[in-house]
Amino acid sequence: MAMPLGISVMSGKGGTGKTLIALNLAFELARRGVKVALLDADISNANLLTLANYDGESTSVTFTTDHRIVPATITFDNIQLEVCSVEMLAGSRGVAKPGEQSAAMIQELIKYTAWKSDYIIVDAPAGYYDIHKSVIASFDSSYLGTLIVTQPAHSKDLIRVLDLHSLNEIPVIGCIENMSSFICDNCKTEHFIYGASSTEEIASNYGIEFFGSIPLMMGVREMLNAGKPAIIDEEYRAPIVRAADAALKAKPRKPGFLEKAIESITDSLKNSLMKAAVEVLVLAKRTVPIADIQRQFNFPGGRVIHLRLTDRSLERPVVDLFLTLKDGALKVLDKTAEPDVTIVMYYKALIWAILKRRPTERGYEYYDFLTAYLNDEARVYGKRESWENMRAWYVLQVVLERLRQYQPAQLESILGVLA
Ligand SMILES: Nc1ncnc2c1ncn2[C@@H]1O[C@H](COP(=O)(O)OP(=O)(O)OP(=O)(O)O)[C@@H](O)[C@H]1O
Ligand SMILES: [Mg+2]
Repeated sequence: MAMPLGISVMSGKGGTGKTLIALNLAFELARRGVKVALLDADISNANLLTLANYDGESTSVTFTTDHRIVPATITFDNIQLEVCSVEMLAGSRGVAKPGEQSAAMIQELIKYTAWKSDYIIVDAPAGYYDIHKSVIASFDSSYLGTLIVTQPAHSKDLIRVLDLHSLNEIPVIGCIENMSSFICDNCKTEHFIYGASSTEEIASNYGIEFFGSIPLMMGVREMLNAGKPAIIDEEYRAPIVRAADAALKAKPRKPGFLEKAIESITDSLKNSLMKAAVEVLVLAKRTVPIADIQRQFNFPGGRVIHLRLTDRSLERPVVDLFLTLKDGALKVLDKTAEPDVTIVMYYKALIWAILKRRPTERGYEYYDFLTAYLNDEARVYGKRESWENMRAWYVLQVVLERLRQYQPAQLESILGVLA
């Protein structure tokens, strides 16, 4: 069976209402006759089944003959949703698995559950961009986009999430603001307890759809207390309805960061990259005061820095260079040198970081060494303690940034075509 289409409901911060909105979006889609599943990817704080008022703890996990997990079914108002959550396995017990194991567990649930649905709505854990990326990676070409949930007080966080999506070329369905205001049952006045919101403006700056705001309501609490799934009242559902419309219109797309992970590495690419690297190093040797930079970082001479340029996955090497800083000069060593530090970097990320820009669908975007490091397009390994290894990264960064200061035109002509 074809992979269901994926939508991940996420926010950078916790408690914004992702689970509530994921449940409501699934319900809205199912109401329109679409077959929908919900996956709770919040391994360590799963609560989707609670909001859906489904007793997961007394449900035992069953398997198909081809070893797939059979999802549970939630029925409400004659509407059925498939659902899978670690709560079915762990109940209310805490889960303290390392991040990559949680990510692997979610990936397996996405790929190896016997889904009968056409859509999977993933209730993502707050933050954990690595888990979010691995959820998206599991859908591959079937990813529809992310539904971002935010609160008025979280504008900085919203910008982070949008930057992350833009940087990795991950499609966004749009954004819902939750808990925007509180409507008092007694005086019927709407109180804007978090003050004015800039969500709409931020969404428009990023060219994404803003589906509207949902107030903080007693009704949700009352439904939960009455043992019903937390389905938001008709009166306040408009943002969910709009999100469902957009989800149904969205076309599945392989996110850019996956596309590029499999870009082909040809011999001609290897040759041009090697040639460019040598030209840049020769230029640096001639123009940059290496000794000053070495002194600035108190970086010992003679350490072997292995610079491995790879494809986007950081797994397939394109070019390996062995460098050292000695007697105020930058030297290229032969391959037999035993490295003190290894810097693994997506080759384009290195070029973008040097040129300080990255091409996107919407034109050029700012990019630098820190962007590469934080977005995991560069990693640093070594024999010594972490910061000791990081010094090699800083030295390399400063050498190349100085070079850009002194020789922008030359760098542009060497690297521009490869970027
Ligand atoms: N608009 C609302 N009105 C009333 N209660 C709400 C509203 N939105 C969320 N809640 C309640 O607030 C709590 C937190 O919401 P929810 O679990 O959906 O947030 P979350 O973003 O998924 O949190 P986490 O980051 O912990 O996964 C829940 O009990 C939910 O029922
Ligand atoms: Mg949640």
